[in-house]
Amino acid sequence: MTCEISRGYDVSLVRGVLSPRNRALADSLGHRRALVVTDPTVEAIHGADLRTYLGGLPNDVDVHVTQLAEGDKSIGSVLAVCEAAQRHGIGRRDLLVAFGGGVCCDVVSLAASLIRRGVPYVCLPTTLVAQIDAGIGLKGGVNFGGSKNYLGCFTPPQAVLVDPTFLLTVPEAELRGGISEIVKMALVRDRRLFDQLLDVGPELLASGFSRPATTGEAVIARAVQLMLDELSRNCYEEGRLDRLVDFGHTFSGRLEELSAYTLRHGEAVAVDMALSSAIAVELGLLGEADLHRILSALLALGLPVRSPLATPATLMEAMRAVCLHRDGALNLVVPTTVGEATFVRRLEDVPLHALTAAVSRVAAAAANTPAVSRLDDKPLPAPRDVIDLRDRLPAARNSSSSR
Ligand SMILES: NC(=O)c1ccc[n+]([C@@H]2O[C@H](COP(=O)([O-])OP(=O)(O)OC[C@H]3O[C@@H](n4cnc5c(N)ncnc54)[C@H](O)[C@@H]3O)[C@@H](O)[C@H]2O)c1
Repeated sequence: MTCEISRGYDVSLVRGVLSPRNRALADSLGHRRALVVTDPTVEAIHGADLRTYLGGLPNDVDVHVTQLAEGDKSIGSVLAVCEAAQRHGIGRRDLLVAFGGGVCCDVVSLAASLIRRGVPYVCLPTTLVAQIDAGIGLKGGVNFGGSKNYLGCFTPPQAVLVDPTFLLTVPEAELRGGISEIVKMALVRDRRLFDQLLDVGPELLASGFSRPATTGEAVIARAVQLMLDELSRNCYEEGRLDRLVDFGHTFSGRLEELSAYTLRHGEAVAVDMALSSAIAVELGLLGEADLHRILSALLALGLPVRSPLATPATLMEAMRAVCLHRDGALNLVVPTTVGEATFVRRLEDVPLHALTAAVSRVAAAAANTPAVSRLDDKPLPAPRDVIDLRDRLPAARNSSSSR
């Protein structure tokens, strides 16, 4: 006998989702009572549009505004959402709506999984990370006892409405974190997307993904599709624990923890991708020219490739820790060329001396670039000896987050 438990959900690209004539959110809400969860930043920028939109609906909708920075990604925030839902009378068939970045989506997903053993939720992701990653998957979670995402759930949303126009107000430094996750998908699955990022990445970052016209949406759509393809293969991570989407996610969590979350997620992922690629070179799985292409691309997009926190000892510690939740296997994702990747299965396949050599290799390649543990909004200077693809890029911009 079998109990079939899987179910699908739709991720839609919807321009102007809060425009009063747009029916996408109204259709997702139906006639149900709902609680929208958001943070003060999103509320300040988009709250008026949200309330105007909701005001035109017959639904009984409350808005819960709460701090949702990485430091607030705690069980306390989840319980506060549960309390707000209880106050608002949210029942089994009612709905939560996550309206914010990845932290908001993670917190709402976990709250939705807990309330009455599971209420539906809809994601309206407002950052790039949330639109191409955190808000479109099944996983919710919060940090606990110093460990990232230690408490969590696999709870699919009812629907995800991705509106690229929200990115117009996202600071460039935050967008870079998202583009890091797109580079991740490109490096393991899609060489064409990688080349496209090299061509238009800086312009997308400087324009809130609005220029070149339609390209931002096309890049987001491709990144979403790649992510959903990978998730669909192994949604609940039950069978195989080797997942290409884990590229850049072996060392990054530990680096974020050690930085007390001052290192942004996407920045930590970029450092991890650089190190994982250098490890691949050490193990004879990736050519040096490809490593330089990868490092050059990350640097050209203003992402860090190294961090003072990434010592060989820290990296070994991080690998041991990931083995605990990869069923004893390391499953380190490493590129074999741009657009293809493989897994290094066992911890013993990456000895300490390979980590040491990889750290040195990245440091040498990025020698002319100051080591960073977090980015500000200034593009990193281009080290002449590694930016071999830089001539393909538009001139570096003096970026600003004042869009
Ligand atoms: N569940 C998953 O599968 C998954 C995947 C990737 C990342 N994550 C998690 O996502 C989190 C990172 O998400 P994030 O990068 O979106 O960070 P975030 O949620 O902290 O948001 C970053 C900042 O952007 C602001 N913001 C949000 N939307 C905005 C807008 N439209 N305009 C201006 N400012 C806006 C927020 O207020 C916040 O200050 C991490 O906790 C990470 O662990 C989860």
